[in-house]
Amino acid sequence: MIVQGHHEAEARRQAIQTAIDATRSASERNRYGQFATPNILAVEIARFVASVMDTGTVGVHFADPAVGTGSFFSAALETWGQTRIRSAIGIEVDPAFAEAARDLWSDAGLKVVQGDFTRLVGDRIQLPPPNLILANPPYVRHHHMNRTDKQRLQLLARQMTGIQVNGLAGLYVYFLLISTAWMEDGGYAAWLIPSEFMDVNYGAALKCFLTDRVTLIRAHRFDPHDMQFGDALVSSVVLVFRKAPPPPTHTPEFTFGGSITDPCAADRVPLDRLRQSRKWTAFPRHATNNRHTLSDEGAPTLSGLFRIRRGIATGHNKFFILDRTGAERRDFPARYLRPILPSPRFLKVTVIDGDDDGYPLVVPQLCVIDCDLPEHLLEHRHPALWEYLRTADSLGVKEGYLVGKRRPWYKQEQREAAPFLCTYMGRGANDKQPVRFVLNRSRAIGTNLYLMLYPRGSLAAMLREHPDRDVAVHELLGRVTGHELRGVGRVYGGGLNKIEPSELGRVSAASFVERWPQLRLSVWRENTPSLFD
Ligand SMILES: C[S@@+](CC[C@H](N)C(=O)[O-])C[C@H]1O[C@@H](n2cnc3c(N)ncnc32)[C@H](O)[C@@H]1O
Repeated sequence: MIVQGHHEAEARRQAIQTAIDATRSASERNRYGQFATPNILAVEIARFVASVMDTGTVGVHFADPAVGTGSFFSAALETWGQTRIRSAIGIEVDPAFAEAARDLWSDAGLKVVQGDFTRLVGDRIQLPPPNLILANPPYVRHHHMNRTDKQRLQLLARQMTGIQVNGLAGLYVYFLLISTAWMEDGGYAAWLIPSEFMDVNYGAALKCFLTDRVTLIRAHRFDPHDMQFGDALVSSVVLVFRKAPPPPTHTPEFTFGGSITDPCAADRVPLDRLRQSRKWTAFPRHATNNRHTLSDEGAPTLSGLFRIRRGIATGHNKFFILDRTGAERRDFPARYLRPILPSPRFLKVTVIDGDDDGYPLVVPQLCVIDCDLPEHLLEHRHPALWEYLRTADSLGVKEGYLVGKRRPWYKQEQREAAPFLCTYMGRGANDKQPVRFVLNRSRAIGTNLYLMLYPRGSLAAMLREHPDRDVAVHELLGRVTGHELRGVGRVYGGGLNKIEPSELGRVSAASFVERWPQLRLSVWRENTPSLFD
């Protein structure tokens, strides 16, 4: 009887979820991280937690700190049944979702508290500690969080867990840490969160937490090529852990692809190994996992030959990047326009020559406004450019995070043109390079859709002496295998690969040293900097 009622309620929940989602714009949903968990996945997660739970756990005290319409509560009901769930609480900031969850589930015992979980969590009367948390927290990225809120959350996380969260971490990191501090010792938790923390520097605190503070039972990553749940979940991981210090010999299980109950690959990874690994997506090892930790730490890498930087983030490309002829026609002063490459999508060549003004001989020819004159001087000296810049107010350009903190707001980050560039993201399987390397003989810089490679040390010296060797350097960059590039970078939904400067820097430079043995010193110097400091 209960099960029958539950299935009806679940069907209604799905209809209400779809109806509310339809009333929200994509940007609203992004701001609050509103992407619901498909019920089939929520049930699978709940069942897995039930299968690993200590048999001594008699009654379940359920909580979901970001409950939405209650996909996880529904799954808990299906898994444990209403009688084993002694109490249940869901917190939701959005009144429409909170109302829906209350309507759907209060008869089944869910208490819904409307409000911001991170502000309510200190209130132990309203929010008594649970012994089970199933959650898909809001995936709000750090640049959508304002500074005061970030500082408040950092302080809260520090007070509740002693952990200092990096300012680049998204809201989900705070949710996980704070919620775990809230729950009872010995309780169980399952979190569906983005997997990026597994590979990036700002994920370090969370990784330490998972190896040292709780007993991580399972980390299951979805296969980025498997779109069974659409685009939203492909770069996600499900973490299941117990709030208890891990036994020293504990070995969490890392699984990948397929489903949680029937993964395509599985590995048990000792805690010490995890503590030493920069990239957790290297686990489990399997035939198609080309993400590996460098086995030969002393080997020469590209960071010894190039200083690698991301291209500039203008804060609003449409506004700051203009067609060159258009800008010249409007009489904008040439000294405040810098040549810039078109987006990789429009760049059809991999060798770029420059014209007499340093503009790349490509179509379209673009420039970026980059000016350091204060507003009052600009208005006086270059009225045409000033008139254009004034339209930024009505377009909302200055409200952006980057533009808002620049002085003056139309001055760009400073970059020299780089003779080599690499696209920041792309697709490609097996040996195909997911990104493209470009040889740039113009004075154009790149946006942040490119990485800029500046030769350093003995490579810079060699190119000064033999400028024509740029072609051979470009050719060697083009020979880095797709496997290696994907191995150092990250994979996102649908097999999209991205590569950050430090990641590209870890690619092997062995072929360069083989070709020009004099480069060895530069490479070695980079790998053992303390000897030379
Ligand atoms: C990713 S959705 C998950 C919803 C639901 N748990 C599920 O699995 O389908 C995250 C939910 O958190 C809510 N949310 C965002 N910020 C919140 C906050 N500070 N406190 C409580 N809920 C929040 C959003 O409105 C959204 O409904």
